[in-house]
Amino acid sequence: MTQKLLYVKANPKADSQSNTLTLANVFVQEYQTKNPESEIVIIDLYKEDIKPLDADTLAKMFSGEKNRALDYANQFASADKYVIAAPMWNLGIPAILKAYFDYVSYVGVSFKYTAEGPIGLLADKPRKAVHISSRGGVYSEGAAKEFDLSDKYVRTILGFFGINQVESLFLENANVLQGDDLRKAIDQSHQAARNLAANF
Ligand SMILES: Cc1cc2nc3c(=O)[nH]c(=O)nc-3n(C[C@H](O)[C@H](O)[C@H](O)COP(=O)(O)O)c2cc1C
Repeated sequence: MTQKLLYVKANPKADSQSNTLTLANVFVQEYQTKNPESEIVIIDLYKEDIKPLDADTLAKMFSGEKNRALDYANQFASADKYVIAAPMWNLGIPAILKAYFDYVSYVGVSFKYTAEGPIGLLADKPRKAVHISSRGGVYSEGAAKEFDLSDKYVRTILGFFGINQVESLFLENANVLQGDDLRKAIDQSHQAARNLAANF
């Protein structure tokens, strides 16, 4: 069966100006080359004009009426693979990505309540995700490791939906490194993206 990859872009910058999106594009292009039969769906959250959940959408989510959040949740649930591309902002994810997850966290689509507590509905088939992020400093190791709420959140919310195969791909120190050092770090991150994409 055709695999569907959903590429979620959460950065207002043009792709060419964004380390995150440039890295994610390298990943997606390599994935496409290795999996030409795959369907790739791009959702650019800024172009979608995603807004925080409002009263009208919330009411419809509970009344069962058709609404925007349901469309996004159904689209999310229809994929097999996920690329979540977002820069680190203030130790977390950009607010627009949180707003998107607030849409996608939909009772009956991505999770449900049971007597034993909530369970993820997206564990119904093997799904994989990668969180791709550029950040000014280093958080994958060292003193600031516990400050990275972005990767923790992305992994936790995906796990809540039942998606437990989650990889992370970072470009770190992007605001500290300069010149050749930055170029080298970018090149290394692109190589890591190609390696990961080849078996994604
Ligand atoms: C609003 C904002 C908040 C940021 N917060 C952090 C932060 O908490 N930690 C960090 O290391 N870098 C932070 N940065 C720097 C970016 O993560 C870094 O420049 C990254 O490479 C941007 O990726 P991009 O080129 O895809 O936009 C912030 C940048 C912006 C614009």
